Amino acid sequence: TYIVTDACVRCKFMDCVEVCPVDCFYEGENFLVINPDECIDCGVCEPECPVDAIKPDTEDEADGKWLKINADYAKVWPNITVKGEPPADREDFERETGKFEKYFS
Ligand code: SF4
Ligand code: F3S
Repeated sequence: TYIVTDACVRCKFMDCVEVCPVDCFYEGENFLVINPDECIDCGVCEPECPVDAIKPDTEDEADGKWLKINADYAKVWPNITVKGEPPADREDFERETGKFEKYFS
């Protein structure tokens, strides 16, 4: 499966959602996740993300942490299939790391 990782937090470009053939993106206030049970591993979304937030779960740098975050939030957040308006201040957060811990918990 593919997963959305830290770079998405507060950037949320949403270019990824419109290309997914199985509509498996789910939307939170600050970022999106992929439902690992629905993703068919096509890889089409990966190059669409301007901040490289999407990766195969085999490249989860945090030892499965992001796979779990994607799986958990995909159960509670609504499905998203159409690109909305990204946050106006997203450029301020493009190069920041550790955003999930800072802005989410
Ligand atoms: Fe959707 Fe394919 Fe990306 Fe999985 S890899 S989330 S199926 S576009
Ligand atoms: Fe996030 Fe990139 Fe999609 S910033 S919303 S994963 S295009």
